[in-house]
Amino acid sequence: MRKIGVLTSGGDAPGMNAALRAVVRKAIYHGLEVVGFRRGFHGLIYGEYAPMELGSVADIIHRGGTTLRTARAPEFLEPVGREKALETISASGIDALIVIGGDGSFKGAAALEGAGIQTIGIPGTIDNDIACTEYSIGFDTAVNNVTDAINKVRDTATSHERVYLIEVMGRTTGHIALAAGVAGGAESILVPEVPFELDHVCERLHRGVRRGKLHSIILVAEGVRSAIDIGKQLEDLTKMETRVTILGHLQRGGTPTAFDRMLASRMGAAAVDLLRSGCHGQMVGIEAGQICATPFAEALAQDKPFPMDLYELATILAI
Ligand code: F6P
Repeated sequence: MRKIGVLTSGGDAPGMNAALRAVVRKAIYHGLEVVGFRRGFHGLIYGEYAPMELGSVADIIHRGGTTLRTARAPEFLEPVGREKALETISASGIDALIVIGGDGSFKGAAALEGAGIQTIGIPGTIDNDIACTEYSIGFDTAVNNVTDAINKVRDTATSHERVYLIEVMGRTTGHIALAAGVAGGAESILVPEVPFELDHVCERLHRGVRRGKLHSIILVAEGVRSAIDIGKQLEDLTKMETRVTILGHLQRGGTPTAFDRMLASRMGAAAVDLLRSGCHGQMVGIEAGQICATPFAEALAQDKPFPMDLYELATILAI
């Protein structure tokens, strides 16, 4: 192992820069050369890459987004795109590749591994929807961003004694909604993993008013359905005044939390260590505070378990 490549792919996640910094510095520390591919798999297909030095990752540990840029590259799904990527890899002279991204990026990484390229994945997505790791890089920052938004909405919700629905990201999962809902003290949390009846949500709203609650905050994971539609239905059913806030990409930006920087630093270094010890075709994870590794095929075949105990606790605490 003499030279490794690194790229960030899919939706950006706060902490990707810290992971990149760890990969580059740990690799150079061990005498390896590093090449950075720009815009994810797009850079592999179109030959956009450059050597990375210690200074290439200076002053980025605290920055959100990814300095390598990112993209979704549908061309990589086509055989022609993958062929071009393999040509770029060969021309760049790398012996292995580290892919920082979500499950779509890991499918790409697994395809490269299948084509004979030694590959390691680092989970970087705010959705925290990847199995075989308790946390993915960016989730903690997104949850803090949402919690901060809940605090702000709560002020105006109390003042006007209204019902507020806040729609959050998470793709087809409700991990962000659940964690931020617990941290922000939401009255109801609607997630794709748990079927719900609007009548029950209405009952909870009425019960809240009876016991003197000044407002209600309902978190809606984007994978459920539009918070605007749910808000209209709730207003019709309860005659309570509702407002809807869609947080959108605000959730994905901003300086990464210390937790995400730590996680990213540990995962980036572990990815380099795995390659140095001859392991590849795996993704790095963290379980019970310990860094671990799981083969792509095993991780990609599973859905991440939804923490029902936490969901039940949230329901109890919001009575
Ligand atoms: O996967 C991360 C994520 O932010 C999801 O939560 C969201 O559904 C999606 O990306 C948004 O993608 P885009 O940035 O392409 O609009």
